[in-house]
Amino acid sequence: MKKYNIVIVALFLIFNHVMAVASGSVHLERANNILSDKTSLQKGAILFATRCMSCHSVKYMRYNRVARDLGWTDEEVLKKLGKVNNKVVDNIIGSMSETVAQAAFGTKIPDLSLISRLKGTDYIFSFLRSFELNTTTGKWDNRVFLGVAMPNIMPKPKDEASLEKYDEDVRNIVNFLEYVGEPAKLKRQHLGWKVMLFLFILFILVYLLKREYWKDIKH
Ligand code: HEC
Repeated sequence: MKKYNIVIVALFLIFNHVMAVASGSVHLERANNILSDKTSLQKGAILFATRCMSCHSVKYMRYNRVARDLGWTDEEVLKKLGKVNNKVVDNIIGSMSETVAQAAFGTKIPDLSLISRLKGTDYIFSFLRSFELNTTTGKWDNRVFLGVAMPNIMPKPKDEASLEKYDEDVRNIVNFLEYVGEPAKLKRQHLGWKVMLFLFILFILVYLLKREYWKDIKH
């Protein structure tokens, strides 16, 4: 039996190692964002609009959907996130055109609608916090995205006191991007609890019914 255990542990370790190598073995920090936290999502949406939307879009999302899900009115969502002339039915599109982006960064700017599904929340959290200025080239380096063309948008504060707020800001943005990646998740998780509760009550009723039926039968 012991031998089998050793084999299983060995296989597990090898598998882990292979997975780490396959994923580029970059250590990611945990985002620890809480999707059900509406205040965090609202803050994240506002930070996304002010810090990221000069370049990035989340084109599969509309303003009125955000309003509905995060608890804002149509007027509020436009005031907080929209650009001049935006309507609530518009998709959320960043300000930079493809030609300007190409000229400025030498690459396309990715749409971030599905980035949380594609790379995960821990990745975005770590990516935003891993910019470092390369003193020889004068360009930004990023250990989770080597040779990145994006500048450092969320520079870490130098003083300890501001660090907590900084972490929270980044976490809120990540939270918003997780929501954008799968808006139905909010509802699904909420519904999940109701379904579980329903099943639990149903179980009790069925059990009582069974007892009632079998009461007079010898078995
Ligand atoms: C000044 C323009 C600009 C701003 C502002 C900006 N980005 Fe970017 N971002 C870029 C560019 C350019 C790329 C493409 C990088 C590349 O391909 O090398 C990028 C790429 C990304 C990626 C993709 C990384 C990957 O692995 O594919 C993420 C995630 C991202 N940005 C998040 C953000 C967030 C969140 C904000 C706001 C806090 C933000 N960006 C603000 C220009 C910007």
